[in-house]
Amino acid sequence: MADFDVIVIGGGPGGYVCAIRCAQLGLKTACVEGRETLGGTCLNVGCIPSKALLHATHSLHEAEHNFAKMGLKGKSPSVDWEQMQAYKQDVINGNTKGIEFLFKKNKVTWLKGWGSIPAAGQVKVGEEVHSAKNIIIASGSVPSSLPGIEIDEDTIVTSTGALSLKKTPKSMVVIGAGVIGLEMGSVYKRLGADVTVVEFLDNITPGMDAEVAKSFQKLLAKQGIKFVMGAAVQGVAKGKNKNTVSYKLRKDDSEHSIDAEVVLVATGRKPYTDGLGLAELGVEMTDRGQVKTDAHWATNVKGIYAIGDAIVGPMLAHKAEDEGMAVAEVVAGKHGHVNYGVIPGVIYTTPEVASVGQTEEQLKAEGRAYKVGKFSFMGNGRAKAVFQGDGFVKLIADKETDRILGCHIIGPAAGDMIHEICVAMEFGASAQDIALTCHAHPTYSEAVREAALACGDGAIHA
Ligand code: FAD
Ligand code: NAI
Repeated sequence: MADFDVIVIGGGPGGYVCAIRCAQLGLKTACVEGRETLGGTCLNVGCIPSKALLHATHSLHEAEHNFAKMGLKGKSPSVDWEQMQAYKQDVINGNTKGIEFLFKKNKVTWLKGWGSIPAAGQVKVGEEVHSAKNIIIASGSVPSSLPGIEIDEDTIVTSTGALSLKKTPKSMVVIGAGVIGLEMGSVYKRLGADVTVVEFLDNITPGMDAEVAKSFQKLLAKQGIKFVMGAAVQGVAKGKNKNTVSYKLRKDDSEHSIDAEVVLVATGRKPYTDGLGLAELGVEMTDRGQVKTDAHWATNVKGIYAIGDAIVGPMLAHKAEDEGMAVAEVVAGKHGHVNYGVIPGVIYTTPEVASVGQTEEQLKAEGRAYKVGKFSFMGNGRAKAVFQGDGFVKLIADKETDRILGCHIIGPAAGDMIHEICVAMEFGASAQDIALTCHAHPTYSEAVREAALACGDGAIHA
């Protein structure tokens, strides 16, 4: 008899969700987590703390820029950084304790410590070896850096250090105009730092619909974030009171440098599988260090599966969670499934940016006939009332069948609104299905309906 039906290694969104679902499906389940708290990158040093800081600083921005316009006069709030950090920590604690509670409620055993797999069917935690019929690797990812940059998590930081700076900096250089760079850059810009983003490519947020990315960059620039595009960072020299980032412009190879109190390196994350013993077991990996899996998240070693940031695909908490639920179904003898064509992506800046499905660029590359319905938030009464008329909804549908192929939103609550389109896509809906659905007034979601109307006979408020 094995000690457990399933041992999940890693207690992040992939691992903890998987463990809970396994237990709910009647499997005797343990989850190994080496951190002091459950929740992984997402709850401890990722999604949740970053959203707390985005919320706090967005509130500050509202007070500074929009309160007086609404007749709310008086001194703008001043920043108590220690209290903001304490608020962030409270949010983290509430969430991580919540997962501990869910483990108890669902009878998932938390094996505290770092796990390794000495042999198929065995997981070692500390000195103890536990046997398991199935092992699920959900060991996540860690920040990656660049050659020539020594991270000290003090003034040369990854996202982890950026979430817990000792004080708010006067200046910050962000290397990489991806999701982390723009979210954390927004936080510190709103806190008064002079923020410059240095990006290797010519567009921000690679992979995003180009029209949305262009508009996004313009809006961020309007907020005062500076951009140096097409710049390959060569290194960062640490000084006493400042750090110097050197870069080469790709167009002419000219060399430049820029000083800042804090440098945030946000050039991507890499899968974390150190110490698991995968090489010794012969588990196949991709050339990017991800665990190789088949369509059912199985590795090439029987009884060992992998999910989340440790495998191929977007590094998103909800992708990891969906895989966690699906692989639990698989090991329970059911039919787990993830529709990789309908995984939304959201950037929690102001305005928010959200997308699902294909971009115009992808469709063009495929040579597919499509149509676009667009609607500006300037035509949405609710958005205008709260000073969020910037941005638009862009709905893309098949030219012949009207079936929705993608949606890209830049505007208020974009991250919530996108789910209407996710559901629609799961049901194979057409743009007309959205256009014919009554949407409450006055809501931001009316802009989605208007974009759908624009795919047909035309939007009303455009
Ligand atoms: P992780 O969350 O990385 O969890 C893996 C866990 O496994 C870790 O806790 C680690 O300690 C543990 N572990 C690893 N090896 C072992 C071992 N051998 N033994 C025991 N334990 C082990 N995604 C979103 O969808 N939305 C967001 O808003 C968002 N914001 C983010 C903001 C930041 C600043 C960062 C850095 C990331 C953000 N992400 C966001 C990405 C998201 O955090 C990850 O995609 C998600 O956490 C991946 O989940 P996971 O379970 O695969 O791995
Ligand atoms: P990213 O992959 O989103 O962006 C990295 C950026 O750095 C790219 O634009 C890239 O071109 C640039 N870059 C790479 N090398 C460079 C160089 N030498 N010089 C200048 N620029 C360079 O990675 P990021 O922002 O670090 O985020 C990591 C992961 O975390 C992402 O995959 C994302 O999915 C996840 N995440 C998700 C969030 C969300 O869903 N809201 C929030 C934060 C992170």
